[in-house]
Formats: sequence, C-alpha cells, structure tokens
Amino acid sequence: MSKRSVFSRRLLTCLASPKFSLNILCLVVTVFVLLQIWSFHTTLQPILLPTSLFKYLKQQQQQEHEHVSHETKTANVMEKLRESVTFLPLKDLRFSNKPLEGHTWFMSSLYDNQTKGEVQYQEFPSKSSKERLLCLKGVDDHDGSWNYYALAWPQALPVNASLKEGLTFVSYNHYDYGNMWHGLSAIVPFIAWSLRNQCEKPQRWVLYHWGELRFKMGNWLNEIITATYGQTPEFLRFTDENKPVCFEKAIVMRHNEGGMSRERRMEVFDLIRCKARNYCNIKLSETSKPRIGMTLLMRTGPRSFKNESAVINVFKKECKRVEGCELKVSYSNNLTFCEQVELMRMTDVLVSPHGAQLTNLVLMDRESSVMEFLPKGWLKLAGVGQHVYQWGANWSGMRHEGSWHDPVGEICQFPDTDRRCMSVYKNGRIGYNETYFGFWARSVLGKVLIRKKKDVVERNHVHGSLNGCGC
Ligand SMILES: *[C@@H]1O[C@H](CO)[C@@H](O)[C@H](O)[C@H]1NC(C)=O
Ligand SMILES: *[C@@H]1O[C@H](CO)[C@@H](O)[C@H](O)[C@H]1NC(C)=O
Ligand SMILES: *[C@@H]1O[C@H](CO)[C@@H](O)[C@H](O)[C@H]1NC(C)=O
Ligand SMILES: *[C@@H]1O[C@H](CO)[C@@H](O)[C@H](O)[C@H]1NC(C)=O
Ligand SMILES: *[C@@H]1O[C@H](CO)[C@@H](O)[C@H](O)[C@H]1NC(C)=O
Ligand SMILES: *[C@@H]1O[C@H](CO)[C@@H](O)[C@H](O)[C@H]1NC(C)=O
Repeated sequence: MSKRSVFSRRLLTCLASPKFSLNILCLVVTVFVLLQIWSFHTTLQPILLPTSLFKYLKQQQQQEHEHVSHETKTANVMEKLRESVTFLPLKDLRFSNKPLEGHTWFMSSLYDNQTKGEVQYQEFPSKSSKERLLCLKGVDDHDGSWNYYALAWPQALPVNASLKEGLTFVSYNHYDYGNMWHGLSAIVPFIAWSLRNQCEKPQRWVLYHWGELRFKMGNWLNEIITATYGQTPEFLRFTDENKPVCFEKAIVMRHNEGGMSRERRMEVFDLIRCKARNYCNIKLSETSKPRIGMTLLMRTGPRSFKNESAVINVFKKECKRVEGCELKVSYSNNLTFCEQVELMRMTDVLVSPHGAQLTNLVLMDRESSVMEFLPKGWLKLAGVGQHVYQWGANWSGMRHEGSWHDPVGEICQFPDTDRRCMSVYKNGRIGYNETYFGFWARSVLGKVLIRKKKDVVERNHVHGSLNGCGC
C-alpha cells in the first residue's frame, strides 16, 4: 500500500468522526492536501501530457511570442514614419518669378485636381495624397518661407502634432483678404466646391497670403461667409512653432476662381446673392422695388468724384426722363452689410468709381447694369487689374456698360506711359463731363427699359437641384 493511499484513508476516517469541530479541522487539512497535490501536478503537467498536445502548446507559446515581436516591429515602423514626416516651406522661393503659375510657389511640390471648367483644388486625404493628411506648421505672418507643410498618414502624425477634426478650408491669396474684391475671389472657389459636395461647411479656415498667415477678413467678407454657410467663420491661429497642426479633412485653394467656367461662377454668385438676401431678411416682392433703380455709390478720398453735386445732377436729370426711375445716392463707407444688400436689391443701374465698393455689384439682380469711372492715367498704366469689375460683372451675370476714363487729372513729371506716374495717378480723384455722362446714362437706361419690357430674362436663377445648397 502506498504512502498516499494510507494518508487518504486516515483522512476519510477523520471526516467520518462524529465530532463537529474535528470535522472542520479535517476539512481544512483535506483542502490543504488537495491544493498541494494540485500544485505538484500543474508544475509537472507538460511532462505528463501526450507529446502531440505538448507540441501544440509549445507552438502556441511561440506564436504568441512572434505576435508580440510583430507588434513591436509595427510600432517601430510607425515611429520611423512619424520621424520621417518632412516639412517643406510653404513659400518656395525658387518660383518667385512665377508665383501664380501651375503648381505655384505655395505648396509647390503638390498639384491641383484640375477638371475642365471646375475649380482647381487639392483635397486631403485623397487618392492623390495616398490617403495622407495635410499638416501645417509655423506662426510667421511676415515671411511665408518660415511656415511649413507636410503630408502624414493618420496613424503616424508628426511628433507634437495635434489633429483638427472636421473640414478645414486652406486659402492661398496672392492679394489682400481685407479688400472686398480680392477677398471674394478667394472665397468663391470654396463655395463652388461646397456646391458640388453636399454643401459641406468648413469648421475653420486657414488664411495665407504669400505663405504668410492672416487671421481675419474684411467685415463685408465675414458677412458673406456667415450668410452663405449660416455660421461665422473661424480663422485658425497657430500659436506654437514646434507644434504642427494636422487636419482630418482639408481643401486647399491657391488659384482663386481660376479655371472655373462662367457657368460655375454664376452658380456661386446666385447662391451668395440669395443667401445674403435671406440673411438680411429682404423680402423678394417686386412691388417693394422701383421699376428702375439707379444708384450712385460714392466713395470718399481716393477715386472719389471731385464735384459730387455736378455728377449727381447729371444722373438725376436723366433718371427723371424715364418713367418709374428712382435715383439713390449712397456712401459705401457708412453702409452696414445688410444696407448694402438691400440697396443692391433695389438697383438696376449701379453708377460708381473704380474701387472695392463696386464688389457689391454681384448682389444686384442678374442682368443689371454697371457704369464705372476711373481717374486720369489708369487706362495706360493700371494694367489688366483695372478690368476686375468688368470680369466680376460678367461672372455674376451682370452687364458692364463701360468705363469712363477722366482725361484730366494729376500732373506727372514723366511721360504719361512711365510706370513711375502710377503712384501719382493711383489715388487721383475723378472729374466729370456733363455731355458724355448724360448721353451714356440715357443709353444705358434705354437698354434697361428694353430688357424690362421683354422680361424674358431668367433672373436670380437658383440651382435648387444642387445637393443641400438650396436657398
Ligand atoms: C478630381 O475632381 C473630380 C471632380 O471634380 C473628382 O471626380 C475626382 O475624383 C478628383 N480626383 C482626385 C485625384 O482627387
Ligand atoms: C515637441 O515639443 C517640445 C515642447 O514644446 C519641444 O521641446 C520639442 O522640440 C518638440 N519636438 C519637435 C520634434 O518639434
Ligand atoms: C460743381 O459743378 C457745378 C456745376 O455743375 C458748379 O456750379 C460748382 O461750382 C462746382 N463745384 C465745385 C466745388 O467745383
Ligand atoms: C456717410 O458718409 C458720407 C461721406 O463721408 C457723409 O456725407 C454722410 O453724411 C454719411 N451718412 C451717414 C448717415 O452717416
Ligand atoms: C461674358 O463674357 C463672355 C465671353 O467673354 C460673353 O460671351 C458673354 O456674353 C459675357 N456675358 C455678359 C453678361 O456680358
Ligand atoms: C465731353 O464728352 C463729349 C462727348 O463724348 C466730347 O465731345 C467732349 O470733347 C468732352 N469734353 C471734354 C472737356 O473732354
């Protein structure tokens, strides 16, 4: 008889004992002994197991080990990816002689998605970015070559990076975000993109001018964005040059409305006009409108009329000749945004000197007329830029009825084609020619009358069909 069986027999007798306290003691001893036997068995178990099962267990263990090392390897690769994210300067000085061409000097290593007639843009992440996100770094508001961009996979964002959720609009503007016209040119392509993408709204904007950060737009532009998207825009401020910011989804525009067909531009202006009128709560009843509204939108300072009352009188006289014509004289400098929207709603003929206030023309009903005035010297020296409101009128469905160039004005000591004269002429003021203005006004009013009689023009057409962007 083995030692173990003798022991178990004794235990059994003990358990069978009639004394309760003894029973408990026996039970404790039994449990202790069983535990001992169990632990003895577990340590020796592999040796007692059949070889096949043993092999299987060993394999399992190995695989587990491999799995762990695989994980460490992946982590190592991720760390390397993270470290290898390379930031390039936003402004590439190698292309400073052609900053606006092709890939431009802004994010010069990347190319836009260009579909004929559509807005030129870049999207991140996308197939062409190999699903990488856009990351930006730098706080410089004076030199764009000290701000940076990089692409990174979401699993391997650069060291110290933070992730901004939602949609971010990144705008490159060669000009000024304070100026109504130039700012609008920067906004238009984003709205065009939204129109084709379920009206998706940006959570924030990042503004660059020559790669330099900007943190605000002019008030009129803020209002246009607020009206269009139903929320005030947030302009991202970068605060720490060591902390990159990556974007869950980013749309980058660097060609303004370049590449967009006239049709696409008109869609955007139709939407802006309609949204602005809703935002300002302007009712669209035809009865509240004069039959023909003629508006003199005045400037103060540079490019204002030298003799306002003389100019007003000419147009007043011509307007009086036409039944139902009403003349309004307003100053752009002290109108609120909604006053401007309302004024343009009433205007069929906008009479105004060359200047940012003319940007309001996009808010008139389609097919309305614009008459523009420029000081001496601009015709020969101001370059193509002086035509922006002719383009703006065409793109928004208006009729630009011509420009009057004042033949008299500031005296320049050089010949009047010398570029140095532009600084003399730039802020010149504008005179008048009673005969010419009268004749011109009569002719434009005549055309407006004919258009109104025909009344076949499709005005203020809103593309209700565009997903989610109805107005
Ligand atoms: C480019 O844009 C068009 C729509 O305009 C889109 O269908 C296409 O997928 C885009 N391509 C890339 C590479 O993003
Ligand atoms: C990360 O941020 C810390 C603290 O601002 C800074 O000291 C460090 O240089 C940064 N690392 C990188 C790679 O930028
Ligand atoms: C403005 O023009 C009117 C003529 O239309 C003239 O009588 C008046 O003197 C002019 N005012 C100035 C300040 O030149
Ligand atoms: C608006 O500005 C013009 C020019 O500065 C001024 O003549 C006019 O009185 C102003 N109107 C109001 C309502 O402040
Ligand atoms: C705009 O310009 C295009 C060509 O440049 C022309 O065909 C079109 O008639 C113009 N539209 C208006 C309203 O002037
Ligand atoms: C005013 O315009 C008329 C008509 O175009 C022109 O004949 C006349 O020479 C102009 N007057 C001046 C002073 O420029």
